Amino acid sequence: MYFMTMYELIDKKKEGKELTKNELYYIVKGYTDGSIPDYQMSAFLMAVCFVGMTREETYYFTMAMKESGDELDLSGVKGMVVDKHSTGGVGDKVSLVMGPMVAACGVPVAKMSGRGLGHTGGTIDKLESFSGFNVSPTEKEFIRNVNEIGISWAGQTVSLAPADKKIYALRDVTATVDSIPLIASSIMSKKLASGAGGIVLDITYGSGAFMKNTDDAVELAELMLDIGRKEGRKMSAAITDMNEPLGYAVGNSIEAAEAVECLKGNGPEDVMEVAYTLGSHMLVLNGKCRELSQARQMLEETISSGTALKKMAQWIERQGGNKAMVYDTILFKKAEIERVIKYTGENPAFLTKGNNPEASYTFEKASQLYVSSINGKAIGNAVQILGGGRAAKDEKIDLSVGVRLLKKTGDIIKKQEALAIIYANNEEKCNLAEEIVRETFGISDKKIQKRNKIFREIF
Ligand code: URA
Repeated sequence: MYFMTMYELIDKKKEGKELTKNELYYIVKGYTDGSIPDYQMSAFLMAVCFVGMTREETYYFTMAMKESGDELDLSGVKGMVVDKHSTGGVGDKVSLVMGPMVAACGVPVAKMSGRGLGHTGGTIDKLESFSGFNVSPTEKEFIRNVNEIGISWAGQTVSLAPADKKIYALRDVTATVDSIPLIASSIMSKKLASGAGGIVLDITYGSGAFMKNTDDAVELAELMLDIGRKEGRKMSAAITDMNEPLGYAVGNSIEAAEAVECLKGNGPEDVMEVAYTLGSHMLVLNGKCRELSQARQMLEETISSGTALKKMAQWIERQGGNKAMVYDTILFKKAEIERVIKYTGENPAFLTKGNNPEASYTFEKASQLYVSSINGKAIGNAVQILGGGRAAKDEKIDLSVGVRLLKKTGDIIKKQEALAIIYANNEEKCNLAEEIVRETFGISDKKIQKRNKIFREIF
């Protein structure tokens, strides 16, 4: 009988050879039960970062992680559940907008979400901004809510894909997150274990996302669609632009409040565009609508008629939250300091480049200036510094802090006009965040075309 060793498997991957199903299951099982140590798993993950994995390998790696724990049984839900997942962004409150809209159309929403980590936010933290909201319903309550009011939400349980939890934590500290097969298998192991019959993926690209360009985003999307379809799930994806934060609010409470404004019909165009696009795919995968255009119309009507807002209030109340916050966003917890950041007349992005002669270029002769870029990752980092994001899982965060953009890419900007507001509870942290926010706005004297948020839909 042949005995595998982790040493041989690391070596095999390093040489670019394809691992078998048994070998991949051996690695995932061994690392999860502790028989394979961190240093060997780290070496293996780094080899994958450099040489990649075939589609077959990625599929078996996903399945091994999925099978490492429990699977959520959604058979008690009446109707087909369609899940939605975003590969991460800054200011991304789309789930909070889309959930009530889709539920108001009569399509069941039974969703598990994570907490924020690093510069990206998490839906569960945003939901906790509604005072009293319980993010840990029992499985029975979770299913009952979906059947009675059409929507329920829960934090990711530890029993779902525990192998991914352990591997992701290791990747986080060994610079092995940004690998397409590792991201695809990590996300899909959890999505498949969450039990939905259909999955809509929001694959983000740009400065605030894991994928920096559209080619990589399309490759990631196609790989994930392939894994889901092999498992008999209905799948579709949208590739969306995350070069600047989504909407104006970044930070938990102000994002939750912005989501409420979206449902009242006052949402920023970019958030609504992404929410309508992904929501339409959910309605089509569920079978509620045949055509995306019909689905979009149905979703738009939930906003104009107020049914999506009502659904959100019903949902927040059902999970123990204060539903008055849905009707009056002034009730969200406020930070003590509100600092307005004004444009000084220089190009802040150039100032970071030390001796760059362009740093002194003050656009004195320009007749019109435009915001040319806003680095999403930097804004996310500023919010983290304010205490609104966590460096390690389970860290406590301050839900009231954040950054509100007052200008977006393509907007005209004048000297002394406000660029952003920082919400903070600590002067020192506010100063640090101010430095980042000031430097993150690129300014140009050339007109900047506003880009469509949706690069491509794949279905
Ligand atoms: N989110 C995940 O859950 N896993 C990854 O690898 C990247 C983002």
